[in-house]
Amino acid sequence: VRVGLLFGGCSGEHEVSIFSAQAIARGLASGADKYDVVPVYIRKDGVWVVDAHGVLTAGKPLAVGEGAVSPMDRIPASIPEIDIWFPVLHGPNGEDGTIQGLLELMQMPYVGCGVLASAVGMDKLAMKSAFAQVGLPQVKYMEVLRSQVYSNPCVFPKLCDDIETTLGYPCFVKPANLGSSVGIAKAKDRQELEAALDSAASYDRRIIVEAGVVAREVECAILGNDNPKASVIGEISFDADFYDYETKYTSGQAELAIPAKLPPDVVNTIQEQAIQAFQAIDGAGLSRVDFFYIEATGEVLINEINTFPGFTATSMYPMLWQATGVEFEQLIDRLIQLGME
Ligand code: DAL
Ligand code: MG
Repeated sequence: VRVGLLFGGCSGEHEVSIFSAQAIARGLASGADKYDVVPVYIRKDGVWVVDAHGVLTAGKPLAVGEGAVSPMDRIPASIPEIDIWFPVLHGPNGEDGTIQGLLELMQMPYVGCGVLASAVGMDKLAMKSAFAQVGLPQVKYMEVLRSQVYSNPCVFPKLCDDIETTLGYPCFVKPANLGSSVGIAKAKDRQELEAALDSAASYDRRIIVEAGVVAREVECAILGNDNPKASVIGEISFDADFYDYETKYTSGQAELAIPAKLPPDVVNTIQEQAIQAFQAIDGAGLSRVDFFYIEATGEVLINEINTFPGFTATSMYPMLWQATGVEFEQLIDRLIQLGME
């Protein structure tokens, strides 16, 4: 089976994607001669580099090329024939349905979520509507548009007042469409709220502001198509103010507990809700669903779904499956089977 491993990409999570692809390439290679891996790297400027073994080995982004490449020429004609694509892309332009749409147009099978699930999973506002639709409990939030932050100065103070009364402090300000906590800020007072909105508006036209909760952060991995299965639950703890980009990718800053120490009924609730969330967005293949667990009240609140979660050897997603009894190589095998279905 010839697997097109698509990685890199035009997103703030380019580097993470390289690490995920390295791990997946190793997993595919360990399946004896079953898989022939064709690494295809997408540079930060969107240019596709075929036969990108060198990038995988080096584990570092390629410099973007000089000279303009026309958008139509970014994808070279020389891609060898592929049986199935494995889009190992995190964030916008890859985890958001755009690549999935391209692969649909090419009539190629691929691993993971389709166009709809990827797009809904990437957009925090669309995601929350989908969750609300199936009755999943979640933290209070408000939608803000860039135009409310920038172009109409009269609206801004009123907007901040509304956020203060509806959500209070601390609250989290996030661009609706970026992954890995890029552009996210925690606001503890008016001054920080204003700065956070200003910063988030520089990343995205749509912004979400969420009420802060004091809670444990727990995650569940999903695997499957129409009959998705849920893994054991994992917990993340960290010293930083929140699980920001640096904490996520600087080893030693975040601690994972797998399985998390939780009452059995809470485990069941999380697993059931994770499957519901996956089905609410019409997920396929894989996803990682992140929750808040408020110990004092026993409440479980869904935070988000990631349709292509971090996939390095020490990432939560493969580790949750390993703890559930599915080894890394088996997991990759299964994902390819699911993509072929
Ligand atoms: N967006 C990163 C890769 C994750 O959720 O794991
Ligand atoms: Mg995410």
